[in-house]
Amino acid sequence: MRAPNLTVQSKPVILGGPPIPGAKARAPWPVHGAPERKALLGVLRSGKWWRGGTRKEMESSVTGAFEKAYARWHGTRHGMCVTNGTAALELALRAGGVEAGDEVIVPSLSFVVSATAAPLVGGVPVFADADPETYQMSADSIEALITRRTRAIVLVHYAGYPADLDRITKLARKHRLLLVEDCAHAQGSQWRGKGVGGWGDAGCFSFQMSKALAAGEGGIVLSNSDVLAEKIYSYHHLGRIESQGFYDFHRLAWNLRMTEWQGAILGEQLKRAKIQTLEKMRNAARLTRRLEEIGGLRALKADARITRRGYYFYVLRYDAHAFAGLPRKDFLAALHAEGLPVGSGYGRAIQHNPVFAEMRGRGGKSVLAGAHTPVADRLCAEEQLTIGHTCLLSRPLVDAFADAVERIKAHAPELAARAREQAKPAAKKKKSA
Ligand SMILES: Cc1ncc(COP(=O)(O)O)c(C=O)c1O
Repeated sequence: MRAPNLTVQSKPVILGGPPIPGAKARAPWPVHGAPERKALLGVLRSGKWWRGGTRKEMESSVTGAFEKAYARWHGTRHGMCVTNGTAALELALRAGGVEAGDEVIVPSLSFVVSATAAPLVGGVPVFADADPETYQMSADSIEALITRRTRAIVLVHYAGYPADLDRITKLARKHRLLLVEDCAHAQGSQWRGKGVGGWGDAGCFSFQMSKALAAGEGGIVLSNSDVLAEKIYSYHHLGRIESQGFYDFHRLAWNLRMTEWQGAILGEQLKRAKIQTLEKMRNAARLTRRLEEIGGLRALKADARITRRGYYFYVLRYDAHAFAGLPRKDFLAALHAEGLPVGSGYGRAIQHNPVFAEMRGRGGKSVLAGAHTPVADRLCAEEQLTIGHTCLLSRPLVDAFADAVERIKAHAPELAARAREQAKPAAKKKKSA
């Protein structure tokens, strides 16, 4: 039995209660020190600030060493570092053969890039709905959207929670679709003991500042296919081909090379990430247990096939009924008053972003014509709560979160009445306008 917790018995801050000390206990991020300084100075002194021109030079670079180590961590044969995660997705689709007018099934619940990568290479995005228990792209929804024009699936492991790779890899094989995993959120995640990113044809990661492995900017494409890896190399390097002359360009392509500065930082950050991933899993499990006891907030469904979970968001499902009908926005306001860093994800299903409003596919048809994603819309509007992965590095913060939820729940009827009262003038104003 836990000792009686006085903080929990008091009122929430929003009702005049005392602050919970742990609510301000942020873990430093990004974590860095002497190893990163040494690695960066090593690059500075070497005078070799780019990763080199020929394939051999590239492989023997600092970035090349990181690339190999990262591919090993995820259990794939090939890795190619690039400028960022957006470029990684675009590159994987281009190298995988997506052409103008091809339909690409994309998520509705993710960061916008999971869906814009396809039209960036001329493809037509087709939006799949989310599974209400896992928040991942639903295999049923994907299957229903496959037509003879479908060429690829961009499968995001949203928040770091692996999507159903059993069913979705089978679907991709059956319909001969290119499967690109968007693993920007899923550093270190494993499905059945094998890293995400190696289940489909290519796995794309981001090392942007907010990610669990950060270099400011950066990305990598992993693959187990020798043929695809060769194309990825070529398309990231201005269309060069390994066996041909350095000034022979064979494909219309960008320069997407990563610098040695990023490779140096990432080599050290990877060592930390391996330890941090386990620490985050332990604290997430602790928070999940506490929240199960309290009730009203549920973590994403547990799945024994997820053998390691990298976190971008720790996602919670909010049940307003368990909080006397308190709307999610007022629950969030109460948590914010406690000083807790919690959000509601990206705010809306991807296709509701203005970029898609005028976007058209074959025959001038709007890409929104068949976009029907009631689950993703509901999760975005009412249910989803997100806590950033760095919070999972602070046990006091995790405990403070659970304490705050417990006392907010104890005072939910008062908070709900207050929220109704506050909503009245707004409703009146609307009527008279
Ligand atoms: C799911 C997802 N995919 C792709 C990206 C793109 O990564 P980058 O910012 O490195 O371009 C992000 C970035 O935040 C992301 O969250």
